[in-house]
Amino acid sequence: MAVVSSGDPGVFAMASAVAEVAADPAFHDVPVRVVPGMTAANAVASRVGAPLGHDYAAISLSDYLKPWEVIEARLRAVAAADLALAVYNPASKTRREQLVRARDVLLEVRSPETVVIIGRAVGSPQESVTVTTLGEFDPDQVDMRCLLIIGSSRTEVTERPGGRIVHTPRRY
Ligand SMILES: C[S@@+](CC[C@H](N)C(=O)[O-])C[C@H]1O[C@@H](n2cnc3c(N)ncnc32)[C@H](O)[C@@H]1O
Repeated sequence: MAVVSSGDPGVFAMASAVAEVAADPAFHDVPVRVVPGMTAANAVASRVGAPLGHDYAAISLSDYLKPWEVIEARLRAVAAADLALAVYNPASKTRREQLVRARDVLLEVRSPETVVIIGRAVGSPQESVTVTTLGEFDPDQVDMRCLLIIGSSRTEVTERPGGRIVHTPRRY
C-alpha cells in the first residue's frame, strides 16, 4: 500500500501520520519506507534565488492540530533569533486572521523592510511568485496554495539585468 503526499511527505504531511500508526504494536510487522520529495519551501526559494541559504525555520500557521499560543510563541522565538522563516499553511478560506496576527507578531521585532516572498502553486500552470516586504504585503492575497518565505535581517534583493535575485548570505 502507498500513501501519497505532495512535496516532501515528511514535511507537514502524511509520513508523520503513517509513523504514528506504525508505532502501534499492532502494526510493528508492517514495513514502512518514506520516499523524500521536494518540499514547497525549497521549490519557492529556487524561483527567486537562495533566500534559505543560511539558517532558517519552518512553521505551519494551521491551528487545527496545534494551539495558536504555541504558534505565536514560536513566531516570537524565530523573530528574536533573526532566522529566515518558511511559512506553510498560511491561510485558507476559513483561517484568515492567523496570517494577519503572524505578520503583526513578526513586526514587533523585525523591520517592515524585511523581504517577503509569496510563492503560489509553484510548479503548476497557476504558479505565481511575488517579492515584497513585511510592511507592504497583503494577507488578503494569500490562500492555502501559498508558501511564504520571510527573510532574515540579512536577506537581500538585488536587481540584475536578467531579473532580480534574492539571497541570504552565508557569511556574517
Ligand atoms: C499540508 S502542507 C504540505 C506540505 C508538503 N508536504 C511539502 O513538503 O511542500 C500544505 C502547504 O504546503 C505549501 N505548498 C504545498 N505545495 C505548494 C506549492 N506548489 N506552491 C506553494 N506552496 C505549496 C502551502 O503552504 C500549503 O498550504
